[in-house]
Amino acid sequence: MSSEVGSGSSESKKSKVYTLKEISEHNTQASTWVVIHDSIYDVTKFLDEHPGGEEVLLEQGGKIATEQFEDVGHSSDARELMKQYKIGELHEDDKQHTKEKGPIKWSDSNER
Ligand code: HEM
Repeated sequence: MSSEVGSGSSESKKSKVYTLKEISEHNTQASTWVVIHDSIYDVTKFLDEHPGGEEVLLEQGGKIATEQFEDVGHSSDARELMKQYKIGELHEDDKQHTKEKGPIKWSDSNER
């Protein structure tokens, strides 16, 4: 069976499409994937380095962690960092189309 999906152009380096079902199998220390804003991140190698601890990542392993990620108010540094762990995108059917909130801007709450 041929598995040519999508445009087949070579412009994107290594973005694969996964379903939530496939992702759900990566919920252990041996392989930890999290979904944030419809992108999939393989954080297996990052578990040790995560400033928020490996526990929270393992807890979200194999799942959509968009809300949890945004609730923490991750910095722009964190958002830069995560790019290198991206391995693909959620299948169109599973996408939530959430919007990037961006780091908290303190000026939002007390402008004037
Ligand atoms: C690839 C994904 C992720 C990356 C690159 C990442 C990176 C970081 C970084 C750099 C920090 C330090 C604070 C900051 O710069 O904002 C942090 C803190 C933290 N992160 Fe993540 N994170 C990721 C995913 C998650 C997820 C899915 C959760 C789920 C709950 C989470 C929970 C936390 C918590 C609780 C802290 C603790 C902050 C504190 O001690 O004040 N992170 N993360």
